[in-house]
Amino acid sequence: MATLITGATGGLGNAFTIECAKRGDTLVLTGTNSIKLDAILSRVKTEFPDVKVFARTCDLSSEEARKGFFEWLKEEKIEIDFLINNAGYITEGEFLLHSDEEILKVIRVNCEGTIDVTQKVIKMRNKDIPLHILTVASLAGYYPMPYMNIYASTKAMLKNFMIALAYEMKKKNVFVTTICPSGIPTTQAMKDAIASQGAGGKMTMSTPEEVAKLGLKASKKHKVVVIPKSINRFIRFISMFVGDKALAKIVGKRWKKSQEKRNFKSEETK
Ligand SMILES: NC(=O)c1ccc[n+]([C@@H]2O[C@H](COP(=O)([O-])OP(=O)(O)OC[C@H]3O[C@@H](n4cnc5c(N)ncnc54)[C@H](OP(=O)(O)O)[C@@H]3O)[C@@H](O)[C@H]2O)c1
Repeated sequence: MATLITGATGGLGNAFTIECAKRGDTLVLTGTNSIKLDAILSRVKTEFPDVKVFARTCDLSSEEARKGFFEWLKEEKIEIDFLINNAGYITEGEFLLHSDEEILKVIRVNCEGTIDVTQKVIKMRNKDIPLHILTVASLAGYYPMPYMNIYASTKAMLKNFMIALAYEMKKKNVFVTTICPSGIPTTQAMKDAIASQGAGGKMTMSTPEEVAKLGLKASKKHKVVVIPKSINRFIRFISMFVGDKALAKIVGKRWKKSQEKRNFKSEETK
């Protein structure tokens, strides 16, 4: 039995990989960047010589690549009992400035690819063994989010999908957990975004290690949804009493200000 981690090449994916290696899980790592995939593969092999680890690139936005990946799992006789849907394509900025390709990529990676992988893993499971699925959505998925609209909307879709799936699967030995983090300083873009929000950004952020540990713990306890940090849970609670239109205004103003500090283009300045 093995743990499949999508987006194992990224900041949070690396943290999930190391935490799962510490538990002694057999690992299957994916991403699209073969150099980064080799790097995390070598790290696991060096730091955890007793852990069995497989790695293969798979572009989640491609149906063909996903098919090939699952054929490979079959050929290698790898059975999955833990799926970590961590891969995600993060994008921000004015809606009108996104290219067609970028819009499709966000939707394909964050929604289509993740949902397809989830169904394929559920279908290939050994029904006698519990299957755990942990999906990384985002706190952004709780709000209408101007200037990060497409990304936040894909995460809203994913969060709702996974919560509903948890209900559908609960009597089928499949346990679905969703984690909704606020900022995580993984890429330079996310570090800059967190810094541009000053004290608020610092207070609400979590490290990749914190998110990975919390996600694994929540999955083990069969929690359906978990939000890292009490301040984020408090903000989420308060926001339930604010209408969507007002929320969009509050979030939009804050995000626009953050992007202006980082010299983002707007349609007028393009
Ligand atoms: N950073 C934050 O502030 C934050 C907050 C909330 C939620 N999240 C979520 O956390 C997850 C991890 O993000 P991160 O912060 O660790 O960012 P990251 O370092 O950019 O990692 C993103 C991962 O997704 C993979 N990915 C992107 N496009 C892909 C594709 N077409 N096919 C397969 N894999 C693909 C990347 O793999 P390659 O590089 O190999 O293509 C990479 O491993 C994402 O789902 C993100 O939405 C992040």
